[in-house]
Amino acid sequence: MTINESLQWAMEIFEQEGVENARGNAEHLLDHCLGMDRTARFLMRHERVLSTVEEDVYRRLVAQRADHTPLQYLLGKAPFLNEDLVVDKWVLIPRPETEKVVEVAIWLLRQGESVVAPVVLDIGTGSGAIAVSLAKALQAKVWASDVSAEALEVAQINVRRLQLEEQVAVVHGDLFCPFHVLNLAGQVDLVISNPPYIPHRVVDTLAPEVSQHEPRMALDGGEDGCDFYRAIVPAAIPFLKPGLGWLVLELGDGLAVKVQDIIGNQREFSTPQVFPDLNGKDRVIMAKRGR
Ligand SMILES: C[S@@+](CC[C@H](N)C(=O)[O-])C[C@H]1O[C@@H](n2cnc3c(N)ncnc32)[C@H](O)[C@@H]1O
Repeated sequence: MTINESLQWAMEIFEQEGVENARGNAEHLLDHCLGMDRTARFLMRHERVLSTVEEDVYRRLVAQRADHTPLQYLLGKAPFLNEDLVVDKWVLIPRPETEKVVEVAIWLLRQGESVVAPVVLDIGTGSGAIAVSLAKALQAKVWASDVSAEALEVAQINVRRLQLEEQVAVVHGDLFCPFHVLNLAGQVDLVISNPPYIPHRVVDTLAPEVSQHEPRMALDGGEDGCDFYRAIVPAAIPFLKPGLGWLVLELGDGLAVKVQDIIGNQREFSTPQVFPDLNGKDRVIMAKRGR
């Protein structure tokens, strides 16, 4: 098959199988197989015939994408802020909404009272997207936990690729459990998390790319989506610096009021503030630990 024929063939399959943006997907996967970017492909003669190996690999990837495996898992990478992060099926694909969470945290910690090299806990780090971004932007020392050992292997790859081993430590375990032995009580400038927040009954109604391919333990937030907020909010308090430490959480759709209540029920926190994402949805909530 030529380049043109390959793209046409893949696009028809994607359209039949209801894969969104058939052309974009066909092109990304072909560029990946040919080991080139879009511009290089454009400069190449479109009658160029794929080698047997290239065609074989392309056919396999197209079949997987037609089965709704996310493009990012097939490419093995996903963009987040200024980096391409390694991803595989064990981690949630980092989302643009989470970039907003990181931006709010950076803005907060750059305010007047903040310290040089803040100490950060990232709960449920997945690919390490939040942890590596804060380490780079703030020269922060980040402790990142996840209950999935497989996810932590991916996070560690991203830490190593970005040469952040001195700043980011990934630790295995449930929420704050791995931090208890680290003597961090009252030492932490920021507790941050993008927790699983999809209400249990909603998970299976999401696009097949999400419901059938992303890790369920990264999605399912229990009956009302708030299980992790109820666990994280009170548990964060003893770690945060009195009068200085911030809690910053990503919000699931429609959960702002409930999470405001969960935080409001803990007298140690200031009144929480909510920020929208680029689509105008309430996406980030933050509160400071009082003295
Ligand atoms: C929504 S994903 C967020 C991943 C990453 N922080 C991001 O923003 O792209 C939630 C993460 O929490 C992890 N997780 C689920 N239950 C957990 C628990 N009890 N303790 C620690 N991490 C947990 C999942 O494995 C998953 O990596």
